[in-house]
Amino acid sequence: MNPNLKSSKLVTISVLLVLSSLQNWANAKPEVPCYFIFGDSMSDNGNNNNLNTLAKVNYLPYGNAFPEGPTGRFTNGRTLHDFIVELLGFKRYMPPFSQVRGKDVLKGVNYASGSAGILDETGKNNMGARISMNQQILQNHRAVVSKITKDMWDDPIATQKHLNKCIYSIQIGSNDYLNNYFKPKFYDTSRRHTLTAFTNILIQQLSQQLRILYDYGARKFAVYGLPMIGCTPSAILEFGTNGKPCVDTLNEGATIFNEKVKSLVHQLNMNLTSAKLTYLNPPGVPVDLSIFAKAEVCCEIGGGGGELCIRDSRPCSSPEKYIFWDGVHLTETQYKMIAESAYSCTIPSCASPFNIQKLANL
Ligand SMILES: *[C@@H]1O[C@H](CO)[C@@H](O)[C@H](O)[C@H]1NC(C)=O
Repeated sequence: MNPNLKSSKLVTISVLLVLSSLQNWANAKPEVPCYFIFGDSMSDNGNNNNLNTLAKVNYLPYGNAFPEGPTGRFTNGRTLHDFIVELLGFKRYMPPFSQVRGKDVLKGVNYASGSAGILDETGKNNMGARISMNQQILQNHRAVVSKITKDMWDDPIATQKHLNKCIYSIQIGSNDYLNNYFKPKFYDTSRRHTLTAFTNILIQQLSQQLRILYDYGARKFAVYGLPMIGCTPSAILEFGTNGKPCVDTLNEGATIFNEKVKSLVHQLNMNLTSAKLTYLNPPGVPVDLSIFAKAEVCCEIGGGGGELCIRDSRPCSSPEKYIFWDGVHLTETQYKMIAESAYSCTIPSCASPFNIQKLANL
């Protein structure tokens, strides 16, 4: 073979390789352009740090497995959304609203706040300041939508087009039970409503909140059900279980809520034109309930309202073997499992009608 030809072939091949790797790089775009997070401490990544509340964790051992250390994430490492954002192909996590700057907002914001609930008063009397779901939407998201509109040269059509493509994650409701209905010393809701009537109020509020998000341009919703809140070490310690593995009344609340949220999601899929909502169920209680023994908390609890790790206490040495990091929050390993399930599970018991990957690509 003519050596010149050979070398030109080599050049062609290397040019092609460079082009294809550039192409890969160009294609390495996230599956959706933006991701907005609404919720409570399971999702919070620093919004409570400067609030006057017991529900904040910007101290060790929180974040001891996170590259930046303690950030206000209520776990040892990454949260559920950090993992989902990674799975969607984003190159960085969503910034907390409290620290967001400049054009960052175009890619998404995390509004979640520890101890917040669907109801405005949830968390207030026993924990302190928090950013309720209504504030997350009506104040903070609204401000972000105005900022995005400006960044898009005040073009309302381009803005709506952008906002329509984002995923809106909603993970809220546990505190309406744990830091409201089931804290009768601080709140009178349990004297005014049965558990079912109270849950109906929550669902009605949530329905309105989702509609407001829709009015702000949201079309892709990932709505999470509640975990079995009666199985947390703190709940077991506080309420006792009468020989059962978990606190039944708390789980009853979560179960009623989940059935109703699922039905709400299906109704809104029919009622809201061009909206796609999906319901995501956190994996159920593991079969071996003995793991919920109160000793199985990775850190030493007593901080916050009693359920958080004590500041600078020494955590367990193998958190990956634990479900609970503190009295109510999970370890990074558990959040990873929940994220993987929400992203790719294909059975209705965990994602109904579809998983996040499908939601992203609809
Ligand atoms: C959906 O629409 C039906 C029929 O108009 C109505 O009865 C129902 O309350 C709506 N549901 C929600 C959650 O908006």
